[in-house]
Amino acid sequence: MTELRHFLDLDQAAPETLRAMLDSGARMKRSGGKESALAGKTLAMVFEKPSTRTRVSFEVAMQSLGGKVVILEPEGSQLGRGETVADTARILSQYVDVIMYRTSSSENLTEMVEAASIPVINGLTDASHPCQIMADVMTFEEVVGPIAGRVVAWCGDANNVANSWIHAAVRFGFEFRIASPEGFRPPAGVLDWARANNGRVSVGADPVAAVTGADCVVTDTWVSMGDAQAEKRRAALTPFRVDADLMAKANPKAIFMHCLPVYREDEATAEVVDGPQSVIWTEAGNRLHAQKSILLWCLLGDAGLA
Ligand code: CP
Ligand code: NVA
Repeated sequence: MTELRHFLDLDQAAPETLRAMLDSGARMKRSGGKESALAGKTLAMVFEKPSTRTRVSFEVAMQSLGGKVVILEPEGSQLGRGETVADTARILSQYVDVIMYRTSSSENLTEMVEAASIPVINGLTDASHPCQIMADVMTFEEVVGPIAGRVVAWCGDANNVANSWIHAAVRFGFEFRIASPEGFRPPAGVLDWARANNGRVSVGADPVAAVTGADCVVTDTWVSMGDAQAEKRRAALTPFRVDADLMAKANPKAIFMHCLPVYREDEATAEVVDGPQSVIWTEAGNRLHAQKSILLWCLLGDAGLA
């Protein structure tokens, strides 16, 4: 049996495959194409958490490649009544060709992958958000140029999105500096993996040190889906807010990125979010093109990206 092409995390994907996906996504953005590449294929999306961008961009990506989409949520499916993730995977594997799964825990994702006999795409867990970071790297390269050798600074909660940025730093060869308070830092395992793979990833508590000379400043919500104690989190993270003074420490041509949804005046001021250095709308738009190449690779392999 051929090995399934799951898209689970950037540390599990070959750098040349990720590069081919980015190039293919950028090509499709520029000149379209592949309108019937996935004709006859169906994507099932399973959401245990809310979504706007991931949901719509995957649905439109699949349709514009000629495929079809079905969506499952706990409400309205037997998942909400205790049918296991593994049983759901076995059933879906008989009806559709690929599963995109957004779940609260990486254990659930593993359960889905182990029971599925079709490719599974990680649409966000508490530990990572690889589809987002493919769109983010694509956006950096579209706006700034090749990301290899550049500096990206993260200020705030080093959450699931930050973990995928760390993976990307190693896979695409850029420096990633994190400024976050104790208790809001990446898991040791992710940092150890970066170190073992010669990644240039640093973690500190000084936003100015992280941002100085950076080519991109990135942050995310202080209260991710499922996080408790929102007020306590806000208090700890307030010194890490991205404002105009902090952006002024970065490279003058630096861009500001955020995966969205954004909470203006929490993790970043409205002045920055809606300001001239912000590329958040291009970033959100690029989810569509990145999603297309992820689907093409999962269903057709490297040939699908050519
Ligand atoms: N950035 C992102 O994944 O957005 P959604 O939660 O709306 O899908
Ligand atoms: N860190 C956020 C990302 C949302 C797309 C969350 O997990 O809620």
